[in-house]
Amino acid sequence: MLRTWWKNPTNTCTAAVIVLGVSMAVGASTHAGENSTPLTFTNTFSGEPLDVTPPDGEIATEATTHFLRTAENIYVGDAAAIGKGSELFLKQCAVCHGINATGRMGPSLVDDEYVYSRNASDKGIFETIYGGAGGLMAPLKGRITQDEILKIMAYLRSLRAK
Ligand code: HEC
Repeated sequence: MLRTWWKNPTNTCTAAVIVLGVSMAVGASTHAGENSTPLTFTNTFSGEPLDVTPPDGEIATEATTHFLRTAENIYVGDAAAIGKGSELFLKQCAVCHGINATGRMGPSLVDDEYVYSRNASDKGIFETIYGGAGGLMAPLKGRITQDEILKIMAYLRSLRAK
């Protein structure tokens, strides 16, 4: 059955289209990321895939585009971004994590103990803030932009550096 499948001209043609399609898809993915491996983001709590396509109405910035491709936050060390991140932190996070991020009803974000070990990395923190974690740690997706999340993350890194 499998042998005769190839002898049928229509099937051979279908096979050629499939091969062409697969090679085009492979070609496209090598252009998708600067390091050629498109990253997969997952939910901190459930491990389910996390859709990081910018929500409707949200504009991708140089920082978000770069981060979603490489997991590298270009706002780290950028004083203006850190300043904005500190304001956002006070509004959105301090009530639970404390004004200096040293913890309140939510854990400290500036020590080396983690509820989820992934939060030692920028990619993990982004996944937690964007997609939420357990209990009161609700997803911030749609409430603040991805760009604002990166600024908060840069602020948190600056606190650790002190
Ligand atoms: C309503 C309270 C609340 C708010 C607001 C909140 N968090 Fe949380 N956060 C929590 C709780 C509770 C946890 C622990 C979650 C768990 O155990 O699953 C947590 C966990 C985290 C973690 C994981 C820490 C670890 O050790 O793994 C990060 C990172 C984090 N929050 C960042 C933020 C940031 C940044 C903001 C603001 C944008 C924010 N949170 C807003 C309550 C909150």
